[in-house]
Amino acid sequence: MTPQPERDETASTTPGSAAYDIDWGALHERAVALMHAAYAPYSRFPVGVAGLVDDGRVVAGCNVENASYGVALCAECGMVSDLVATGGGRLVAVYCVGADGRPLMPCGRCRQLLWEHGGPTCLLRTPTGVLPMTAVLPQAFGRENLDRLAGQVRTKE
Ligand code: THU
Repeated sequence: MTPQPERDETASTTPGSAAYDIDWGALHERAVALMHAAYAPYSRFPVGVAGLVDDGRVVAGCNVENASYGVALCAECGMVSDLVATGGGRLVAVYCVGADGRPLMPCGRCRQLLWEHGGPTCLLRTPTGVLPMTAVLPQAFGRENLDRLAGQVRTKE
């Protein structure tokens, strides 16, 4: 049985997203397809994710596990790799799903990946609706933190 997307509210009222026509149904379909391609023999927890890029591309990824468990790559890692390898750009909207086809919240590390490549206005389909990254990763660490303190080295007294 193919998991069906839930009815989504569109993100047109969220700042930063109004300029983009986000087809959440298409993102869901792609994420489910990638979930079915996942290599997850150890956890048996396949994940798929799809993201809309600001130039209209759709990038996607699935988790890829390893006999050395800690080496596992999350689905979002694959998606970000796809993003960068196919021309870069900014993620506008992201849909991540688990085996049931329902929205899956990215792990902490992957929220950081989404922040780097989507920033505060990137939208994520969550189990409670569409949320901006500012809600998904509040008070995020980003490159501006590096810039702000660049060159200020505190030496031990
Ligand atoms: N996983 C992802 O692919 N993305 C996440 O955001 C959460 C976890 C994968 C990693 C591992 O292969 C499996 O789910 C179980 O943790």
